[in-house]
Amino acid sequence: EKGGYEHFMIKEIHEQPKAVKDTMLSRIDADSDTIKLDDIKITKEDLEKFRKIYIVACGTAYHAGLVGKYMIENLAKIPVEVDIASEFRYRNALVDENTLVIIISQSGETLDTLAALKEAKAKGARILSVVNVVGSSIARESHDVLYTWAGPEISVASTKAYTTQLIALYEIALYMADLRGTLSKEEIKTIKDEMMILPEKIEKTLENKEAIQRFAAKYSGVKDVFFLGRGLDSPVAMEGSLKLKELSYIHSDAYAAGELKHGPIALIEKGTIVIAIMAQQGLYEKMLNNVKEVKSRGAYVFAIAKEGHKEVEEISDQVLFIPEVSDLLAPVVAIIPLQLLAYYMAVEKGCDVDKPRNLAKSVTVE
Ligand code: M6R
Repeated sequence: EKGGYEHFMIKEIHEQPKAVKDTMLSRIDADSDTIKLDDIKITKEDLEKFRKIYIVACGTAYHAGLVGKYMIENLAKIPVEVDIASEFRYRNALVDENTLVIIISQSGETLDTLAALKEAKAKGARILSVVNVVGSSIARESHDVLYTWAGPEISVASTKAYTTQLIALYEIALYMADLRGTLSKEEIKTIKDEMMILPEKIEKTLENKEAIQRFAAKYSGVKDVFFLGRGLDSPVAMEGSLKLKELSYIHSDAYAAGELKHGPIALIEKGTIVIAIMAQQGLYEKMLNNVKEVKSRGAYVFAIAKEGHKEVEEISDQVLFIPEVSDLLAPVVAIIPLQLLAYYMAVEKGCDVDKPRNLAKSVTVE
């Protein structure tokens, strides 16, 4: 059932090109200039009514939500707030009939996320959920559902569910941008065309797995790892850090790199491992400065950068190049090396990869 792979997680990591493709099928189509979101009934009038969008989720789904905020705000120009479900449900958020709440959940059964949905629904919000499990509780309670077609995800660590959640959120953002006229047909087409080649880019990134395996063989004994990124690389850093913690039990933290100076840089000393995610062209120079800052304090820097960005090689200890991809879509590709990193670190340490200690696949208790 693991299809020749040693663990479900590594099998699921390799299923991402297909999962991403399946999640675009019949929605993003080269021959049509619209975005078809299954039977979602959100109209142009509805969108005019929504003064605000909340994205609510837990864990990895929350990290997808952070990317979703950026996408919706930038493409469809509607203000978005992202909340952790267990906070949202208790904080009396400003939700009414003029609010759209996007709920993200792989399992569709996470208790806090379901409770947050019910809370928002009771206040009159319109609920659109992004769910992987068909017919799950969250899917049933929502007004509209956009399914991710990741297929069953067995490993406790979420991988293909995450990348497909990103795709679903891109689709939602493009759909809204189209209805609201905030992007031209050509702009939408450019993004769609690039989305359709994401599966190949993921495939290409997976070919680099030996480099990550070698890194893990050398550094799996470390105590702390820092993940840094800016803009859309910042949620990618958070997701990479969560993956590493839950699988390898190595302490790690993620920071928006601009925050370094405001505290965390005090922790950087000789040999501290820093994973620098540099997939945002617009912020590349800023990241180069951050890498120099941590290097001058003795950090070992493993950078994830886009092909052709050579300067980074001179200043970091190791670079893993990912294929050229626009800043907007980079999170789908940049997360792949980080998933592999967490996986190989856990394998090196002999951890129970598919069932990490203390964790459950679906968190149905508070
Ligand atoms: O099923 P859900 O997407 O609602 O689950 C949310 C989180 O519990 C989940 O993403 C968790 O953080 C994963 N173990 C991360 O790999």
